Amino acid sequence: MVFPPPPTSAIDWSNVGFKVREVNGHVETTYSVHTKQWTPLRFVADPFLRIHGMAPGLNYGQQCYEGLKAMRTPDNKQINIFRPDQNAKRMQDSARFVAMPTVPEDVFLKAVDMAVGRNAEFVPPHETGAGMYVRPLLFGSSAQLGLSPPEEYTFVVFVMPTGVYHGVHPVDCLLLENFDRAAPEGTGSAKIGGNYAPVLIHSEAARNAGYNITLHVDSQTRTYIDEFSTSGFLAIKYSPEGKTKLVISDSKNIIRSVTASSVEQIAKDIGWETERRLIRFEECAEFDEVMAAGTAASLVPVKSITRKSTDTKYQYKYGDENPEGFLTLLNTLKGIQFGKLEDKHGWRFEV
Ligand code: COI
Repeated sequence: MVFPPPPTSAIDWSNVGFKVREVNGHVETTYSVHTKQWTPLRFVADPFLRIHGMAPGLNYGQQCYEGLKAMRTPDNKQINIFRPDQNAKRMQDSARFVAMPTVPEDVFLKAVDMAVGRNAEFVPPHETGAGMYVRPLLFGSSAQLGLSPPEEYTFVVFVMPTGVYHGVHPVDCLLLENFDRAAPEGTGSAKIGGNYAPVLIHSEAARNAGYNITLHVDSQTRTYIDEFSTSGFLAIKYSPEGKTKLVISDSKNIIRSVTASSVEQIAKDIGWETERRLIRFEECAEFDEVMAAGTAASLVPVKSITRKSTDTKYQYKYGDENPEGFLTLLNTLKGIQFGKLEDKHGWRFEV
């Protein structure tokens, strides 16, 4: 049989959206503290997991997750996963925060490859610009009442075809002022559910008030930008001499965005100046463009940032009067991801 199969005709590819869709199945493996081994990978059709209700993954939030993407090349005949090695490493860092065994990089890569490969007909057609979202998840899975690490852990990889999370148009952002996402010496840099669930009530309220995306500042001084609730913070500044600078938030309490670091490398490759540093919130007044960067978000331009307590609204223009640096970065990033541009840094992993 020729691999990959063409995209399934069961999905309306003109309207993929960002939602859960049922596919052929997911990959599972478990780890026991007694054997110190991961079981051979299993491909399971049923999307429901069978785990004990007292699993610490459910009760104490002992879990971490990842997000990465797979895309088809222009002839639709090859599928590449974008930088899965980086997600493997980041998941190892997250696991250590919540006392879980790390998934070895080769197990992670094989599981992701199997999940994408066995669901290949659900990888969207190249021309749609959409990708297959890959969601690896690791959690404490054996029954455990006391607050100590359990004996068994489960690692699963789910996949689903998706468009981009915040859409493709510039978004309005609200700074969250009455909620601290990350404690100064806490777990802000870990991709754990505990950094996402507490945000929901605030991001829902913001959405209802007309803001598509929410932003966090550091909780100790409320001075420096941390990240968006869903993605990393990047900004562009043009100098009168015609130079372009990309500035990336470098707080120690943010999740190390693979998309942001890819965009940083792209900016360097095209001769822009780059700075990875703490960013004062007020600097938003000086930036020409602001972007959110993440696997699900891709690269989304921000058209305004509101801070209600000081009645501040920073606005950014995209279109004719602006060079739209974000588009240069986005087109290059997508060009590499979708196999249209040279993969100078070895970012594409063929399925
Ligand atoms: C991702 O971009 O992969 C994420 O995990 C963000 C999530 C809120 C969809």
